Amino acid sequence: MNRTMPEWLKDAVFYEIYPQSYQDSNGDGIGDIPGMTSRLPYIKSLGCNAIWLNPLFDSPFKDAGYDVRDYKKVAPRYGTNEDLYHFFDEAHKLGMHVFLDLVPGHTSEEHPWFLESGKAARNEYSDRYIWTDFWLYGIPNHPYIGGECERNGVYMLNFFKCQPALNYGFAKIDYPWQQRPEDPDPMATREAMRDVCRFWLGHGCDGFRVDMADSLVKEDEGKKKTGEVWQDILGSLRKEFPQAAFVSEWSNPAQSLLGASFDMDFYLDHPGNGYNTLVRDYETKGGDHSYFAKDRGGDIERFLADYLPKYEKTAGEGYISFLTGNHDTPRISYHLDRRETALAYALFATLPGVPFLYYGDEIGMRYQSELPTKEGGYTRTGSRTPMQWSAGKNAGFSDGDEKDLYLPVDADYEKVNVAAEEADPGSLLHTVRDLLALRHGEKELQADGSFAVVYEKKEDPLFVYRRGGILLALNPSGEEKTLPAGTDGTPLYTIGTLTKQDGNLVLGPQSFAALRS
Ligand code: NOJ
Repeated sequence: MNRTMPEWLKDAVFYEIYPQSYQDSNGDGIGDIPGMTSRLPYIKSLGCNAIWLNPLFDSPFKDAGYDVRDYKKVAPRYGTNEDLYHFFDEAHKLGMHVFLDLVPGHTSEEHPWFLESGKAARNEYSDRYIWTDFWLYGIPNHPYIGGECERNGVYMLNFFKCQPALNYGFAKIDYPWQQRPEDPDPMATREAMRDVCRFWLGHGCDGFRVDMADSLVKEDEGKKKTGEVWQDILGSLRKEFPQAAFVSEWSNPAQSLLGASFDMDFYLDHPGNGYNTLVRDYETKGGDHSYFAKDRGGDIERFLADYLPKYEKTAGEGYISFLTGNHDTPRISYHLDRRETALAYALFATLPGVPFLYYGDEIGMRYQSELPTKEGGYTRTGSRTPMQWSAGKNAGFSDGDEKDLYLPVDADYEKVNVAAEEADPGSLLHTVRDLLALRHGEKELQADGSFAVVYEKKEDPLFVYRRGGILLALNPSGEEKTLPAGTDGTPLYTIGTLTKQDGNLVLGPQSFAALRS
């Protein structure tokens, strides 16, 4: 690392929890903080030593909590602020770190700042959001709303209709109502967000996942001004909290890690990008197929062509974060079967950077494509169903009435659940545990270790790469593959088979091997 990073990130593996759906402790059918606290030992047992909680702040929940009404108050349905402080404490006792979800680009339309901002009489909050100066004048290139407030103007949206954009200024000024990022109102917005971070960091939170981190300054080609805002916010927070860390929802590591000084940037699922070619399989829908899909003739080149330049440009300056999935995408199991998924996890567990596991992906929970939308989830709702703990009532998620559950439990829960997979040594759950144990046991496999391609070829599924003294080989195809001549070493971990034939190492069908070499 050229930059000083929080030490704990080097061996961090995150677990994302959608609080609504993890563990209900009071029988109301909605997951809560005491429920999550009771599951900390389980999360630790997987090998995840850090947690990202989706927003659990006071909200009208028109976008599942990404519409914040009070940044400093836990939503009553999840418990109290004290419950959350206790969660931090219990996680820390287990040597784990906790991220909250910061939504800096917009608030709920019910946030008191916005209600003040919409008033006709000028006040402290009038320009904390982006307004034009006449009710008929729109906002070029951006969605906006008119006719809802007494103020003479229209306001900009950042995402849904319920999410007015906070004002961090414009990089390019074309109209009198636009402000520069350094003007007093955008500076006050910036200060308010810094204050929110300070509040939670001061209560024991270890950092933030930052929602739409690239969305702050408008008309910001290349995101230079947005980067400067983050350098200012993160720079000052790091002085007070040197071990605090931040991951951006940006998916542009050059802009996020170099320009904005984030510690980590998510490699998001965008059509045709490197991540997408690894774990998605949209071929039937006229798109691409996954590298891990057996016998589909995939090669790793499409991934490397996108990933390598990003990695090389930013290595030493921050981490690219691979995700098994998240609350916005179909679960990985929608495209890959269990064996294919296990191989994908093997890659994620052995790449540089800091990996993230989405709750339920460790047991292969399904994406339920037919579920009606809930709290603004739309097609995302199918990835947000209750965690399947056991074959018992409501899959062990809740003691409440089935009709009160936040979302229905997937019908496969009697087969797919934590208890069943704990009891089966060949389960995906055990593979996840083994892979994370391998990573924790070998410094060279962790965030900072080097990464080099040893073998990749167009139309050849075999991929061999090196992390320091460890050689890794993947073969997602149904045919066995001979490793390049001269390859040798002591096996550390294998999925499938690794044999020696005529002096050469041969990787069996749908296999992965890690060798000290
Ligand atoms: C990205 C979040 O991941 C998503 O769930 C949310 O709807 C939007 N940002 C808006 O905040």
